[in-house]
Amino acid sequence: MIHFSKSVVTLLMVLVGTSATLVGYESIDYATALNLTADYCYARSYEEVPSIVQRCEYIVLVDFEVPAGETLELNLQKNSVLLFEGTIKFAVAYWDGPLIHITGNNIQVIGGTKHLIHGQGEFYWDGQGGSGGVKKPEKVFSVNVNGGIFKNINIKNCPTACVKIYGNDLTFSGFNIDLNDGFKNKLAKHTDAMTFSHSNNIVIENSKIVNQDDCVNVICSSNAVIRNVHCWGSHGLTISSGLSTSDRNNDVQNITYEDCSIGGSLSGIHFKTHPAGGHGTVDQVTYRNIEIKDVTRHGIEIQQDYPNNDGHPSNNIKINNLNLINVTGTVKGKTTRGVRISCGSGSCTNWKWSDVKITGAHKKDDCNFHPDGYSC
Ligand SMILES: *[C@@H]1O[C@H](CO)[C@@H](O)[C@H](O)[C@H]1NC(C)=O
Ligand SMILES: *[C@@H]1O[C@H](CO)[C@@H](O)[C@H](O)[C@H]1NC(C)=O
Ligand SMILES: *[C@@H]1O[C@H](CO)[C@@H](O)[C@H](O)[C@H]1NC(C)=O
Repeated sequence: MIHFSKSVVTLLMVLVGTSATLVGYESIDYATALNLTADYCYARSYEEVPSIVQRCEYIVLVDFEVPAGETLELNLQKNSVLLFEGTIKFAVAYWDGPLIHITGNNIQVIGGTKHLIHGQGEFYWDGQGGSGGVKKPEKVFSVNVNGGIFKNINIKNCPTACVKIYGNDLTFSGFNIDLNDGFKNKLAKHTDAMTFSHSNNIVIENSKIVNQDDCVNVICSSNAVIRNVHCWGSHGLTISSGLSTSDRNNDVQNITYEDCSIGGSLSGIHFKTHPAGGHGTVDQVTYRNIEIKDVTRHGIEIQQDYPNNDGHPSNNIKINNLNLINVTGTVKGKTTRGVRISCGSGSCTNWKWSDVKITGAHKKDDCNFHPDGYSC
């Protein structure tokens, strides 16, 4: 182990900072992170966490259970490096959560190869998700951070939603979210995997997600890239708007999904805008190189009649410049459609689609707006 002094480490962080990528410093892997300093503080029980988080910038959390009804609060100091090792579990309690809440500036959060954040969803799932049954923690991993890299994080069995993000200049890389157990008797519901809202400059990449609701969901955010994310189960690679009655909380701007796949899901690409919300604009959304496999409802659904699906779309949200490039795949089942587009009157403009092809549908495409480059 190289024993860097604190000042050398600070210098290293500054030097690394000059070869800036997204957030002004390079993402590092677990082993490199451990070698940064000999001064890591190890928390091996929940009780040790608060004082360590106050005292240390280099922290390892190892193998403990968070007591029932408590949040693992990680209000990290600026430039902190936090590592996860072993299994972090949460004793079961029927409450709102969150199970983990992370705040900070310019932080790095990195998982060791065998670590696991275990939400113990199997003790909550009752087929009703967030709309009934036992009360379930609403988030496993709640992030409220400006400047940060989250790398190689393994999460299992979220009671409902997994990761919810608010913040700026954040990269999430190498997430492995595994809710395979939730398919049993269709008990897991509302298990949205990665959602960000009111966020700017976000990257989600190189991740594998198995869940039962939206795989990635973008709400009121700008300048984001979701790439090389592979989803199974799930509801879609999603954009949502109209959730807020306040107009400026409905805008979505410059979001790209690329080199992603989604299979066994209800939808592949899903836009949902809520007629009951305020006004807003969704602008410059691009899906490029997307593979859709065995989707069970709509390969691509852009709907302005969510959640009623009643064929009465509203134009409170404008959807401009929606580009689909090389989106291909299959749907499978009796009620499937390749493409459904349900736009409000005059609310969809300038969509360019190329190389879009979904096969295997039982019903014809259903479109009340026609993108350039795609006939439906
Ligand atoms: C960490 O430090 C040890 C001891 O100096 C060294 O053997 C190892 O290669 C280093 N690992 C990394 C990833 O830097
Ligand atoms: C869109 O967002 C990406 C990712 O943050 C950024 O690199 C790009 O410059 C943005 N484009 C525009 C036109 O703002
Ligand atoms: C189209 O997307 C697929 C992934 O679905 C990818 O393998 C292929 O290389 C892409 N084609 C082009 C021309 O980029």
